[in-house]
Amino acid sequence: MSNRREFIKQGAQASLGSCLALSVFSSVFESCKTAALTGLTIEENEISFHLSSFGSKKIIFISDERLKDEVVIVKKKDGTYYAMKMQCTHQMNPVRYTGDSFFCPTHGSTFDMEGKPTTAPAMRPLQRFTTIESGTRLIVKLT
Ligand code: FES
Repeated sequence: MSNRREFIKQGAQASLGSCLALSVFSSVFESCKTAALTGLTIEENEISFHLSSFGSKKIIFISDERLKDEVVIVKKKDGTYYAMKMQCTHQMNPVRYTGDSFFCPTHGSTFDMEGKPTTAPAMRPLQRFTTIESGTRLIVKLT
């Protein structure tokens, strides 16, 4: 009887932990996904927007029907930027931002914030795009 009660108690604690983790994950994910970019233009091989769109944010995601894959742009501590494709390099499925890394739910690969693989099966880093600061705008070259 005691074992059964302990089992139920542990199960309830595990469920609560999962819900809290999911809730935190969703919150981080959603808050970063809804960035409003001013002056956004998307052309065949280039994204451009006003740098002021970053505000105090350190990371911005851009997904659009004109883009094949979602793009993440990260502002570094030194004020420079880098951009990556949100696509796993194992079998090219979408990756998710976890708050401090990227995770591919298909087979479990993880990548650090620089896009470097930290958990197999992916062995190659996330694809990087060239970023260019041009006046008040940031240009991301998608080639
Ligand atoms: S497609 Fe991402 S780990 Fe396999």
